[in-house]
Amino acid sequence: MVDFQTMASSNSRLSSVKGPIIALFVGATSGIGLGVLREFARQAVNPHIYFVARNPTKAGPIADELRLINPHAKCEIIHRDVSLIKDSEKVAEEVMAQESSLDLLFMSQGFVSLDGRQDTSEGLDASISTRYYSRIRIAQLLLPLLNNSQSPRVVSVLAGGKEGPIDEHDLALDKPGNFSMSAASYHSCTMNTLMLERLASEYPRVSFIHAYPGFVDTPLFDGVSSGIQGKLLSYTLVPVARLFARSISDAGSWGLFAATSARYSVDDGMVPLTRGIEKAEKTKGGIFLVNEKGESTDNENVLGPFRQRGVDEKIWVHTKEVFANIM
Ligand SMILES: NC(=O)c1ccc[n+]([C@@H]2O[C@H](COP(=O)([O-])OP(=O)(O)OC[C@H]3O[C@@H](n4cnc5c(N)ncnc54)[C@H](OP(=O)(O)O)[C@@H]3O)[C@@H](O)[C@H]2O)c1
Repeated sequence: MVDFQTMASSNSRLSSVKGPIIALFVGATSGIGLGVLREFARQAVNPHIYFVARNPTKAGPIADELRLINPHAKCEIIHRDVSLIKDSEKVAEEVMAQESSLDLLFMSQGFVSLDGRQDTSEGLDASISTRYYSRIRIAQLLLPLLNNSQSPRVVSVLAGGKEGPIDEHDLALDKPGNFSMSAASYHSCTMNTLMLERLASEYPRVSFIHAYPGFVDTPLFDGVSSGIQGKLLSYTLVPVARLFARSISDAGSWGLFAATSARYSVDDGMVPLTRGIEKAEKTKGGIFLVNEKGESTDNENVLGPFRQRGVDEKIWVHTKEVFANIM
């Protein structure tokens, strides 16, 4: 376990990194991503921040806050809705139009739904498209840019290490009766890990992290559902869990550590290892699955058989088809 003090001390060394650090945050208009974004603005001397927002009224005050935290921060809002793949592609295009390299891609967009499928205009369920398809599409398009960075990193905050069963014959869960909150969560998580591994095999210089944040007190569970299950969650389980949850600010330190420490890098990393921290282990597929304590997990019992049976290849073919069919 990496304790909070060690993470905070490593994060403070970001101030020694010379030159601008260019980062794209997706899902940072709230919760964990926002906590990391604030911490990044606080610790980096010369951060060049892009962040995606679907809601303009939310984005302006965040940009103002970041400039207050760090007057040297260059901050650009990309107004897009990443539940849509087309918009996710535009996000990548907007960064590519302005930058020749990218140091950090930090993604934490997504939500859970107990209300069944919520199809976007592109025919994907929005909870899966935000948690899986949009993340892979943005990463895939930005990898050439990331590859130009000295120490590039992709972080996907979801449920690394919690992979589980998936319906291999209905990866998008669009056949009648197949969608549930739990199935959508397993699909998003498992496909995230296997496809980040796929991208890692194509870009070995880039460090990939699929992280599980533990329970964090964010707006995520505020409007889970209007139904009976949702009310049960909202009025019983969620308030109790909140008593034990970590704060957005603590999650911000945890996330920035995951995003910058050499512990999770394929090279020397942005922030070198500090005393007491060792390199974490990668999965057999070549990425870091990081838990809420900063430890790497492997979940090889689940992932190994998927790889051996070629399920990763099947997911890749499916994912490319989904992207190709969205005009
Ligand atoms: N919090 C936890 O305890 C916890 C535990 C395990 C895993 N996670 C996962 O970690 C990730 C971040 O969670 P969080 O607690 O930080 O959540 P959050 O506070 O609700 O933030 C979610 C982010 O995703 C964006 N988003 C949500 N629904 C969207 C949609 N339909 N279309 C486009 N963007 C959408 C939000 O944008 P807006 O600001 O515009 O709404 C926000 O930027 C999620 O994927 C979550 O499943 C969280």
